[in-house]
Amino acid sequence: MSTSAHSLRRIGVCTHRRLDGQPSCAARGSEQLLPALRGRLAGEGRDVEVFPLGCLGDCERGPNVKIVGGELLHEVTLERLDAVRVALDE
Ligand code: FES
Repeated sequence: MSTSAHSLRRIGVCTHRRLDGQPSCAARGSEQLLPALRGRLAGEGRDVEVFPLGCLGDCERGPNVKIVGGELLHEVTLERLDAVRVALDE
């Protein structure tokens, strides 16, 4: 039986937008973050699925990124994509 050193990881990016100007991940750039993160990880050859998530209830600290089975990261911007890569490797 063969085993793989790499297993599929899954990452959810909150893309929820709240109404009336309330803070939200979408208002803080998560709609741009999701494809950028997906592209970055794919470009590195990582077996990672990046998918949109609904509100995680921590809107003031968005964009929020949840590594399934791992950390919930806050304030993940395009400039902070490396924080996701570090969390994935932990
Ligand atoms: S809008 Fe992302 S946590 Fe609420």
